[in-house]
Amino acid sequence: MGTTVLDWLDERLGLKDIVAFAKKKTVPDHKYSFWYYWGGISLFFFIVQVVSGILLLMYYQPGPNAYDSVRQITYEVDFGWLIRSAHSWSANLMILALFIHMFSVFFMKAYRRPREFGWWSGLTLLGLTMVFGFSGYLLPMDELAYFATKVGLELPKTLPGVGAVITELVQGGPEIGSTTIQRFFSLHVVILPLLYIPILALHLWLVQKHGNAIPESEAAKPESERRSIPFFPNFLTKDLAMWLIALNVLAIMASMFPWQLGPQADSLAPAPEGIHPEWYFMSQFQALKVLGEVFTGKLAIVGEYLGIGGFTLGGILWALIPFYDHDSKNGRRARNATYIGLAALVGLMVLTIWGYVGVS
Ligand code: HEM
Repeated sequence: MGTTVLDWLDERLGLKDIVAFAKKKTVPDHKYSFWYYWGGISLFFFIVQVVSGILLLMYYQPGPNAYDSVRQITYEVDFGWLIRSAHSWSANLMILALFIHMFSVFFMKAYRRPREFGWWSGLTLLGLTMVFGFSGYLLPMDELAYFATKVGLELPKTLPGVGAVITELVQGGPEIGSTTIQRFFSLHVVILPLLYIPILALHLWLVQKHGNAIPESEAAKPESERRSIPFFPNFLTKDLAMWLIALNVLAIMASMFPWQLGPQADSLAPAPEGIHPEWYFMSQFQALKVLGEVFTGKLAIVGEYLGIGGFTLGGILWALIPFYDHDSKNGRRARNATYIGLAALVGLMVLTIWGYVGVS
């Protein structure tokens, strides 16, 4: 029966060709192979986001009823709290997995020729994922969401000329209100997915086309000493085992530490103590805070430009790394790139921890 169904499908869809192709594909096997799973783990959390997001859409109401609809999801709808909690936790775990993925491909030098577009499409996905996070954070319209978004929207305001226009455009008025929720909602559920899916498809196609990069220590070995495993079924089975671990971590976090809903946002109330953005924006927040303490009074604007300019320039240089370190022939550049990666990793971690110490 099973074979008949498979044959029926194969005649129409060419399934066996896909399996034969997957069997031919191999994945390098060496002591750093563990890092090859992180792109797949990010993909797993993305799928969770899509499924749980669609379920939340069944009850969520953008606009003036936003808070009440999230209250209903959290306290009245069966398992609503779990779906909401899974969506929020999975968003955070996805960003964490993405950072691990980005730094591991960086240290494996997988941005080098011919994988530059894999690097750039990945960076675009990371940027879009962070905008997903920022736009989603406001949607429940509780106190924390409101004030954290307010702090976040102060940033573009400082940009010369265009700043006020951007804030007005994003906010839909002088204050965060129903129009802002409507705009963040369309960004979160329509505009971002429309941009995201084709870029993700390109990213995955490029990985498929070029295969996994190998680290320099592996590339230095003669070809006869390098090991690899078939993608199907060997690597895929290991990938699925990783997904199972990711699912367990998510289930534990979402059920043991349910995502909270604070009191309804009140624009007239004073901001609660220690308001800060989500952890993945904490490094920028802290850098601006420190610069704000160094440059005071009339010089405050200099501090803001230095902060925003520094992060923008850092991001651009990070994206351009394949032009600097493009092959294994230049050992000095390869070493420098590794130092740049280490400095970026340590810098982001120090600023983030420092930021949390400052607000606690
Ligand atoms: C939703 C976001 C993303 C998904 C779902 C995703 C998925 C994947 C998958 C499944 C792979 C193959 C397995 C692996 O090497 O891990 C991969 C490879 C790769 N990704 Fe991503 N990725 C994402 C974001 C990123 C980001 C943020 C970067 C870095 C800026 C990036 C850069 C790369 C590169 C350069 C490769 C090739 C690695 C190699 O050849 O070994 N990706 N990605």
